[in-house]
Amino acid sequence: MTSLRFVFWFLLISFSAAAQKDYKLWLQYDKILNPQVAQEYNLTVKGVVSLGNSETSKISLKELENGWTNMLGNKIEIKSKIEGENNLIIGSQSSLSSDIQKTILSDFDKISNEGFIIKSILLKNKKQIVITGKNDVAVLYGVYRFLRLVQTNKSIKNLSILDSPKINLRVLNHWDNLDRTVERGYAGFSLWNWQKLPDFIDQRYIDYARANTSIGINGTVLTNVNANALILTPQYLEKVEALANVFRPYGIKVYLTARFSAPIEIGGLKTADPKDNAVANWWKEKAKEIYKRIPDFGGFLVKANSEGQPGPQNYGRDHVDGANMLADAVAPFGGVIMWRAFVYSEHDANDRAKQAYAEFQPYDGKFKDNVIVQVKNGAIDFQPREPFHPLFGAMPKTPLMMEFQITQEYLGFSTHLVYLPKLFQEVLASDTYQKGKGATVAKVIDGSLSPQKLTGIAGVSNIGNDINWTGHPFAQANWYGFGRLAWDPYLDSEIIADEWLRGTFSNNENFVKPVKQMMMQSREAVVNYMTPLGLHHIMDTGHHYGPGPWVSDLSRPEWNPTYYHKADKNGIGFDRSKTGTNATAQYAPQVEKMFDTSETCPEIDLLWFHHLSWDYKLKNGQTLWNGLVLKYQEGVNQVQEMQNTWNTTEKYIDNERFKEVQMLLEIQYKEAKWWRDACLLYFGQYSCKELPAGVEKPTQSLEYFKSLKFPFAPGN
Ligand code: GCU
Repeated sequence: MTSLRFVFWFLLISFSAAAQKDYKLWLQYDKILNPQVAQEYNLTVKGVVSLGNSETSKISLKELENGWTNMLGNKIEIKSKIEGENNLIIGSQSSLSSDIQKTILSDFDKISNEGFIIKSILLKNKKQIVITGKNDVAVLYGVYRFLRLVQTNKSIKNLSILDSPKINLRVLNHWDNLDRTVERGYAGFSLWNWQKLPDFIDQRYIDYARANTSIGINGTVLTNVNANALILTPQYLEKVEALANVFRPYGIKVYLTARFSAPIEIGGLKTADPKDNAVANWWKEKAKEIYKRIPDFGGFLVKANSEGQPGPQNYGRDHVDGANMLADAVAPFGGVIMWRAFVYSEHDANDRAKQAYAEFQPYDGKFKDNVIVQVKNGAIDFQPREPFHPLFGAMPKTPLMMEFQITQEYLGFSTHLVYLPKLFQEVLASDTYQKGKGATVAKVIDGSLSPQKLTGIAGVSNIGNDINWTGHPFAQANWYGFGRLAWDPYLDSEIIADEWLRGTFSNNENFVKPVKQMMMQSREAVVNYMTPLGLHHIMDTGHHYGPGPWVSDLSRPEWNPTYYHKADKNGIGFDRSKTGTNATAQYAPQVEKMFDTSETCPEIDLLWFHHLSWDYKLKNGQTLWNGLVLKYQEGVNQVQEMQNTWNTTEKYIDNERFKEVQMLLEIQYKEAKWWRDACLLYFGQYSCKELPAGVEKPTQSLEYFKSLKFPFAPGN
């Protein structure tokens, strides 16, 4: 009995320790194992002096204390004033004494309002380190950066770091419904517990804020773009206010989605026509009511006249009318309107990929100053790979906000290990050529190509109430990487992976090196086993789980995978060149020219832009059919390599996370084979060709794959 009880307690303790590891994200603050490194830290920092006393300053101090104690194994002395040497001095510019100010004065000109300075200085001949910025939130960003240096075992001896975010609005978009289901969410239910709010403040809200601020995220849209007007009623606003109060000291603003028909649904009006005075007034009053509760409310995100959502077009008005009317309502309070350009119409027979550009580009320069147009990274919908959206660079007089999807709707849900910052970086580094060479997407969205008052980037959140927040331990890296790229869209995704691995798992090179490599190849692997060579939108319908290239009977043509791959006896691919829908003409001439002919089109985008015969010769000399098949096989092989790599890591990390990832990789392997077999059987009917050597034969029939049903698929 006693020993049984012991076993029980042992299991319970080890379970909760493991759960904590999963929960703690990249802020593990694990004990530093390298004695030289620990010694350097202990010698360089002997005490902390915090000069501020705001809520935010208290968070900075607590975070430092907690991080330091855990990593160094000894408490750091908190001092009330600067005495002796080797102190860490934290405080905003105005809190610094004049002698400190003097040593770093010119640096303040080099940082923005949110930027920070971490600097080793000599003060009366004594060595100190200062972490400062123009306000307390900027200091907190600096504190997190300092802690990251320690977490990643970097030297802190001679510091001179000046860093400012390059993008103003760095926000998560939660597609969370009020009943706590999450659209396209694969990590449990919504964090926001509307029933218990406002009185019950879940520790999760605080830890969510910590995690976000540690990577520089400064905004959160709490609700789904497919909006529910109820969120704008006092009953809910009171709860939103409670969340805003939690997030404020962390520098995170709250935004809500605005359902365009709200004036009718909750306001008792007969119309939601943006040109109707009563409607405009209703929104003005609503804004006033919200700002009274939440003076730093960020503003509204709006999905209008898209996939059945109401919008200005219901009243014969356009997107500019709708956005500007809402912009007027929030402008007196400094709010912004994030108006989405994700539109395609059932009444437009045009290539879906062309519709957002066709509709929005002519509006360039017509939106009010506090409107920012939110554009998905590609013109279809967050596919494993899409060429960059042609709107980037094509609306120089309008701020455009990037929308990435962190949740893996089309990339294997939270079961597949896919490191998305690689994808994000590929898009950000794409050259639009809109003002000649070097006009990258990153330069469009950070306003360096055409100056903009507002700049922004949004990531559709992959967060839910699962213990590990994101469903897959490695999906945490996608949240992390989004935040880092939002701060600096020029960062290298490999460096981000390195930081993340060290903060989350271990600094051991034998672990970091191979696992980083595994992460870096994971994005290409998913492209290979799902949609190689520019294929897209061939997933199964509704839930989007698994392959469905055969689907052809949905009411709207552009919902069907057959619309996108156009496979027939003659070949495969969507002709978007001059001989087809001419979508290529939406790009700058240099890009258009490159995409327009199959010889110059990068092969990764080949079938996105061209319909080619099965015998078309690829650059490596293979026929298109053979090349396609081999890519599917390569994807499967890559997952196997990922498994092999992971299996070597057991001795470096905790058993629980090791096992979790191992099981998930096994599912990924199974599903990669499923994608390969289903797609090859389906396309093989048209190519009528054999599988080339080196490719495994499918073990099931096409009919079997078509018959599969998934009533349990989440996120629908
Ligand atoms: C995709 C997704 C929807 C979502 C939509 C959007 O179509 O499947 O669930 O609402 O994008 O971004 O608005």
